[in-house]
Parts: sequence; structure tokens; C-alpha cells
Amino acid sequence: MEHQLDINGKSFFVRDEGTGPVLVLVHGFPLDHTMWREQVEGLSNCCRVLSIDLRGFGKSTGPVDGISMKDFADDVAEILTELNIEEPVTFCGLSMGGYIAWQFWEHHRDRLSKLILCDTKAIGDDDAGKETREKVAQRVLQSGPEFLTAIMSGKLFAKRTLEEKSEIVNKVLQVIRNTLGESVAAASRAMAARPDFTNRLSEIDVPTLVIVGAEDAISTVEEMQSIANGIPQATIEIIPNAGHMAPLEAPEATNSAIRSFL
Ligand code: MLT
Repeated sequence: MEHQLDINGKSFFVRDEGTGPVLVLVHGFPLDHTMWREQVEGLSNCCRVLSIDLRGFGKSTGPVDGISMKDFADDVAEILTELNIEEPVTFCGLSMGGYIAWQFWEHHRDRLSKLILCDTKAIGDDDAGKETREKVAQRVLQSGPEFLTAIMSGKLFAKRTLEEKSEIVNKVLQVIRNTLGESVAAASRAMAARPDFTNRLSEIDVPTLVIVGAEDAISTVEEMQSIANGIPQATIEIIPNAGHMAPLEAPEATNSAIRSFL
């Protein structure tokens, strides 16, 4: 089933499949809910899988200027309220979705039962990183998102995906191409402004699964291992032959890790 939920001047697309415990899937930058299609397919026989488009991405709309990671997390909480979901959910975020997961834990703890952190970071950006984000924001506002496809395709995927799974790569690049420049710019600035979460990891008090592609060039295995070490109830699953987009590149291994965790 698909919803288009109009909430306070925003409109959210949500794909809602299956029944059972709720699993909320939050995409990375600058993508949309379609990056989770293999999880919808593979996990909706054991839970209710909600894959959402964040504000400004995919088929979701709303004001994005000055948006923060906390605003995105608040949007997820509003979506759950609108769908009358009162039970605590498993929040699964990839990369930027993980930055939003930290905020969801901090500000909506009562709605959370478990966390799944895929290919993400706890640390904030350093000054050079912030500068790069601002350059991306300015360039995308000037000339649109096409330039990002070249930058991202080199970083998002494992070698095997690039060599053997061009359909996956092309679909992701097409999503990037279709994303509004103003949303890409706003999210880039929001990521630059996100707080460093490293010192909060020990406070996370829900069972947590950390998933990382063995070849992730953006959030490395080492970095994800230190997140798993920092969270008291965390376990880590390293997915072979996958990069930053592990859930899409290696869906069977990812889904089996999620299924055992749930
Ligand atoms: C993402 O996949 O969401 C981005 O690579 C995150 C980032 O640029 O930090």
C-alpha cells in the first residue's frame, strides 16, 4: 500500500507493506525510499515495513530551507502519529538516515524499540568536510544534481556491484538526477550542521544492529566497528561484496542480518 500523507504543510510518501512489528526505513543522501526495495520485498513477510521519502526527496514535499537532522526525525514521528502507530518501532537508517536515527533516539525515545544503523557515522564533519558540503550546496543550486552522479558512483558501490550490477547503479544515479537541487543543498547544509554523536553512543539504551558493507568507502568498517563498540547493546554485521549501499548491493545478507536481529 502507498500513502501520501499531508501533515502541517508537508506531504509525505510512505510505502507500507506487511503486518507485524513496525520497521521504519530511512534513506541516505540524496536518495529516496526506492533504495529499500529489496528490504520491502524480503522483510514484509515478517514485519510491517514502512519505507518513507524524507521531506524534499522522492515524492515528499515541504519547506526545506534551514532544515536539520532533528526536523527530519520529527517528520518521521509525525508520520507515525498520522498512521496511528503507537507501538515503539525499529528505526533503520542508512548514512544520512543514520544521522537522523541519532536524533530520533534523542527526541523520540518513547517511540523507539530498536535501532539499525547502516553505513553511517557518529562523528560530525570537520571544517574541511563542512566546506565541501557548502560547495556541494552552492553548485547544486547553480547547476542541478548531475555533477553528483559522477562523484557518488565512485563512492557508493563495491567493486562487484560496479562490474556486475549496472542496473542497481543506474537506478541509484537516476534517483540522484531526479532530486530537486534545493533539497540536495538543504540536506548537505543540514549534514554539515549535524552534531557529533560520538560521546553519546554509550547512552544508547536500545538493542542495536550495525550493518556495514565490507567495501564501504564513506563509512568504513573500522568506523562502524567503533560505533558498535560504543553502544552497549550493539552487534555488528559486515556484509561482503558490498559498499555504502549494502542493503541494495547485498540484499540477502542484509535481510538475513535484519531478520535475525528482529
Ligand atoms: C549518505 O549516503 O547519506 C551520505 O553519503 C552521507 C554523507 O555524505 O555524510
